[in-house]
Amino acid sequence: MCGIVGAVAERNITAVLVEGLKRLEYRGYDSAGVALLNDQGQLERRRRVGKVSELQAALNAEPLAGRLGIAHTRWATHGAPSERNAHPHFSGREPGSELAVVHNGIIENHDALREQLKGLGYAFSSDTDTEVIVHLLDHKLKTQPDLTAALKEAVKELHGAYGLAVISAKQPDRLLAARSGSPLVIGLGLGENFLASDQLALRQVTDRFMYLEEGDIAEICRESVQIWDVSGEPVQRESVQYHEGAEAADKGEFRHFMLKEIFEQPKVVQRTLEGRLGSDHVLVQAFGPQAAELFAKVKNVQIVACGTSYHAGMVARYWLEGLAGIPCQIEVASEFRYRKVVVQPDTLFVSISQSGETADTLAALRNAKALSPEQGGYLASLSICNVGISSLVRESDLCLLTQAGPEIGVASTKAFTTQLVGLMLLTLSLGQVRGTLDKRLEAELVDELRRLPTRLDEALAMDTVVEKVSELFAEKHHALFLGRGEQYPVAMEGALKLKEISYIHAEAYPAGELKHGPLALVDSDMPVVTVAPNNELLEKLKSNLQEVRARGGELIVFADQQAGMSNGEGTHVVNMPHIHDALAPILYTIPLQLLSYYVAVLKGTDVDQPRNLAKSVTVE
Ligand code: G6P
Repeated sequence: MCGIVGAVAERNITAVLVEGLKRLEYRGYDSAGVALLNDQGQLERRRRVGKVSELQAALNAEPLAGRLGIAHTRWATHGAPSERNAHPHFSGREPGSELAVVHNGIIENHDALREQLKGLGYAFSSDTDTEVIVHLLDHKLKTQPDLTAALKEAVKELHGAYGLAVISAKQPDRLLAARSGSPLVIGLGLGENFLASDQLALRQVTDRFMYLEEGDIAEICRESVQIWDVSGEPVQRESVQYHEGAEAADKGEFRHFMLKEIFEQPKVVQRTLEGRLGSDHVLVQAFGPQAAELFAKVKNVQIVACGTSYHAGMVARYWLEGLAGIPCQIEVASEFRYRKVVVQPDTLFVSISQSGETADTLAALRNAKALSPEQGGYLASLSICNVGISSLVRESDLCLLTQAGPEIGVASTKAFTTQLVGLMLLTLSLGQVRGTLDKRLEAELVDELRRLPTRLDEALAMDTVVEKVSELFAEKHHALFLGRGEQYPVAMEGALKLKEISYIHAEAYPAGELKHGPLALVDSDMPVVTVAPNNELLEKLKSNLQEVRARGGELIVFADQQAGMSNGEGTHVVNMPHIHDALAPILYTIPLQLLSYYVAVLKGTDVDQPRNLAKSVTVE
């Protein structure tokens, strides 16, 4: 969603800021802007609706130069996408403006502040909540001329979420930052320092980072960084060196990030398993030192998540109940957070998120934690997350980090399959500790997990077959996805992928529901995609498919090679490697990802940045 980049240096930093914005493009945005303090001591800015390349073109036509600057990609929340609403926002008219601010998040009391500031004579030039911040700060500077002290006072009046970067024409040597509910990281250079909402934006200039914590305010100069915590006390934040994955923002040999990420799955699944499997059992400590003691008390599981992560949770419900015998409920976070819930005793609250910053998932976790034991509070909270420094991880009692590495494509792929691996580890751990999982089955599944990366490689080898099948969708406007049991959420994920990136309307149904409605839609214009592992539901699924064929529907079936299904008129069968039934959801996800990818390529859509969507939804 919104992205922030800032820099204070001895050199002209325009190119650093623009490159940083480009690296944040994957988060989704609708406009971009940059403000620099020029050598005449004036703040200047360029803002453009659309891609960072538009901003770059504007800068090529009318260059800006400076050694102190901030930049932003915006995803509209208050006020339409337009140049006047794009950040940075100034206080005062340019040139001669004293302050520039960029902001991620939402200021909830912006209406009241706007009225108050208008009363003080401030004229607003945008419809954003952000503009109140810059005028409020300007107002504070009248009585408190020190910029950092004024910022500390101003943020006290802001309700809501923010990551802020501030520069002032009167303080050419410093860049200020404030974090509350929206992540910020300082990049440490030699004689120059940087700021960003995601370290990915700064890997071009440094590999040393310092993460701000909730409530921190930072003063970033060329040679120093000073941080104050939420109570205003000076604090040291640890600096960490980033080694791995520096190439992640690069597509390499692949045409799109999404395809690169699909093909990374065997490797990242392997990484997610590393250090977590014993000879014939899962190492429960992978979930933290107190995990074994806590898991022994768990009688129920409540899962919350959004989007693709929600689908991972739906698969986990089948696993937790079917393999570990633990009752499990799952709900989308945006519903859960606004509902009065009845908590069963000894329920483990599990949140799943790639980013760990999704606003609804975080709010659900916070609500869950706020319940007192008398209200039937949760036993403990656990997050399955891909970002170790995220708010979700920090605020959960336990966590299991997936090792997918940075995911750039807006449509989630490798994050999903590594979440499934994490959830299988959780299922096996809970079953093991509670004694509800047969030891032999655990040993068998641990073995199968070890073989999983090879199975995924085999599934990826079907790439060209799936590409061929994708041609069937080129002219279609609708598609139906069917699955039974734990393949139903896989079908849902397949339908979500197709609609996200190819804009084809796709719906998923449990195959048994076909005759209760969706069958009415089936004709030769409605391709029906099915995942058919060789399990006890196969014969039932085959009858459902007959129902589709009888109505002239075209079938695309991803079927186990031992399922006894073959090509026929209107039936396209893609044979899948045989796999243990429990792990089939992970394997069968691969061809559905490839299918949506190739359909999108055929349709010529923006695969990595589909319209209207954002990678990281940090606002409601
Ligand atoms: C957005 C993304 C999805 C993602 C969802 C939840 O909608 O486009 O790919 O599944 O957010 O994100 P999370 O980071 O919590 O998994």
